[in-house]
Amino acid sequence: SHYRIAVVVGSLRKDSFNRKLAHALARMAPADCEFHQVRIDDLPLYNQDDDGQQAESVQRLKKEIAGSQGVLFVTAEYNRSIPGVLKNALDNASRPYGQSAWAGKPAGVIGVSIGAMGTAMAQQHLRNVLAYLDMPTLGQPEAFIHAKDGLFNEDGTIGEGSKDFLQRWMDRYIAWVKRHNG
Ligand code: FNR
Repeated sequence: SHYRIAVVVGSLRKDSFNRKLAHALARMAPADCEFHQVRIDDLPLYNQDDDGQQAESVQRLKKEIAGSQGVLFVTAEYNRSIPGVLKNALDNASRPYGQSAWAGKPAGVIGVSIGAMGTAMAQQHLRNVLAYLDMPTLGQPEAFIHAKDGLFNEDGTIGEGSKDFLQRWMDRYIAWVKRHNG
């Protein structure tokens, strides 16, 4: 069968390292897995008053998540937590109450930052949110990626130093997705 995985990038920056990482990871996936980056930059700021008439962009995001067999979060760390844009996307697609798009979707959490701790604290905060949203989240291996020279090759693939590690991470995440889709 075929697996569709939604990729949520926690950075809106044009030259985002996390978006680059998301692209590189997608290229490491097996042929039966298709990765799709979902848009979160056009979502309204979450407002509970809108629950009865969610914006088109929110409905679109929810449809994309609902139609996926897994969700891969590739996120930046802002001020020792997840960027607001990511939390906003999580909040928007979690409502109205009882109609969350996230529940049950197997998740992977990964991120890259220019700091030595490589988004570790953002990832830990994100895990807390995903637990509440009832998303089974891959626990190991963890991947805290430090953006340094050579992380990416010219063609956008992962450089020698991290290639094998990230391939093993992807293999484990794909196995996780398959395990949670009967
Ligand atoms: C950062 N950055 C950062 N890095 C980190 O490792 N821990 C942190 O807490 C923060 N905090 C933070 C706050 C804000 C507002 C900005 C703009 C940046 C640096 C961050 O790792 C760097 O900007 C990355 O390039 C962000 O990821 P993208 O946009 O390249 O994917």
